[in-house]
Amino acid sequence: MVITNWLSQYIDTDRCNAYKSIMSSAGNCPSEDVLALYCLSHADIFRSKKVIELGSGYGLAGFVIAAAKEATEVVISDGNSQVVDYTQRNIEANSGAFEDTVVKSMTLHWNQEDNSNVADTFDINIAIDCSCDIAVSLKLLIGKYHFLPIAFFYPFIIWIKISSEKGFSLSTFFKDFHRDLARIVKHLLSKAGSSEAIFLSPKRGYSLDLFLEVAKENGLHFSVMENYDKEVWKRHEGFLNEDRDSWLSYDKGHHYPLLIRITL
Ligand SMILES: C[S@@+](CC[C@H](N)C(=O)[O-])C[C@H]1O[C@@H](n2cnc3c(N)ncnc32)[C@H](O)[C@@H]1O
Repeated sequence: MVITNWLSQYIDTDRCNAYKSIMSSAGNCPSEDVLALYCLSHADIFRSKKVIELGSGYGLAGFVIAAAKEATEVVISDGNSQVVDYTQRNIEANSGAFEDTVVKSMTLHWNQEDNSNVADTFDINIAIDCSCDIAVSLKLLIGKYHFLPIAFFYPFIIWIKISSEKGFSLSTFFKDFHRDLARIVKHLLSKAGSSEAIFLSPKRGYSLDLFLEVAKENGLHFSVMENYDKEVWKRHEGFLNEDRDSWLSYDKGHHYPLLIRITL
């Protein structure tokens, strides 16, 4: 909310919301708001940098970095071309907000063989909550096999729902997605000497650990930080204590995004 209010000074958030509401697979996760807040309060780390957001969805964090005008270039990417189309419209609708910062949208699927469209060097990669997204991954899967009737996927969806309710993490099933994400991060990092990737992701059972395991297998180094922003930590403590009624189902492991910084 803080971010959206701040952003509305610079960006037509109503238009963004209009496009967002028809995005098929990606709404705005609370983690994306946190990432946007983090990027805003640490805008200096993007000074004169080329930044790419992976699995952007609505791309709020990318737009915030662009509107802060510190970065030279911001590329907002997602594997879902419909999402990218709406991102492009949002870029055009808000082009006046970015001044000299070049802002682009890009369709980037983490498992694509041809990475020539990211042959450019990026200093910073950011991504959010991508390491453990079962529902969205399933939608991408359905998109890929769109010729199959939707009923084909129902047992699978029900299985996921029951398993999730039992608290069982199904991310092992999506290890391919972890591998693809780790691979693209490694590819991006190896392109520029001192670049790093900044991720925000809740722990969600073993989900994040599984992604980090895959990252390690790919030779990536990482640090995980819990308390990385005063405001975010204050909100988190509030949800556990005095503001408990405002988010009854708040669960640290499931909702609180950890900051992960990845280097080669
Ligand atoms: C949970 S959403 C997060 C969206 C946004 N970052 C946020 O937090 O609001 C995950 C995003 O990653 C994208 N995604 C998932 N798997 C992907 C893949 N293999 N390649 C590219 N994008 C992918 C989805 O299309 C979706 O927009």
